[in-house]
Amino acid sequence: MNRTFTMIKPDAVENGHTGAILEKINNAGFRIVGLKKTQLKLSDAEAFYAVHKARPFFGELVAFMTRGPIVAAVLEKDNAVNDFRTLIGATNPAEAAEGTIRQLYATSIGENAVHGSDSDENAAIEAAFHFSGRELF
Ligand code: RTP
Ligand code: MG
Repeated sequence: MNRTFTMIKPDAVENGHTGAILEKINNAGFRIVGLKKTQLKLSDAEAFYAVHKARPFFGELVAFMTRGPIVAAVLEKDNAVNDFRTLIGATNPAEAAEGTIRQLYATSIGENAVHGSDSDENAAIEAAFHFSGRELF
């Protein structure tokens, strides 16, 4: 079993899609290991997305990610990182495959409903950023 980390982003929480997205995650065979609703402070978002600091969209990204609550989760499944990236679809919802979470619920490349870790190593770092050991079961 492998783990990945996800956030339901502020746009999807605002638009009332939290339940539908969690149902899709569940139906795709992921086990929820940890789950919390929280809101990132600017310093949290800047640290979480530090890898994108030099990108032109960084300011927009951290403003978006801090404007309202998110739902953070750690998920478990065989091949969790890659299978979850398949379930969420391309970064740009206009390019996301039919039936993926971003095709269904994202509105733009910036406000794209969900985050998914891009490697096992980053999944572990991101999970530890949001959860303590006794919040994961
Ligand atoms: P994520 O990390 O959130 O799962 O998304 P991703 O891997 O599909 O995309 P990534 O390249 O890591 O970009 C991180 C997030 O930055 C925002 N973004 N905006 N305006 C833009 O051109 C642009 N490009 C990226 C998105 O919110 C993207 O998910
Ligand atoms: Mg990414």
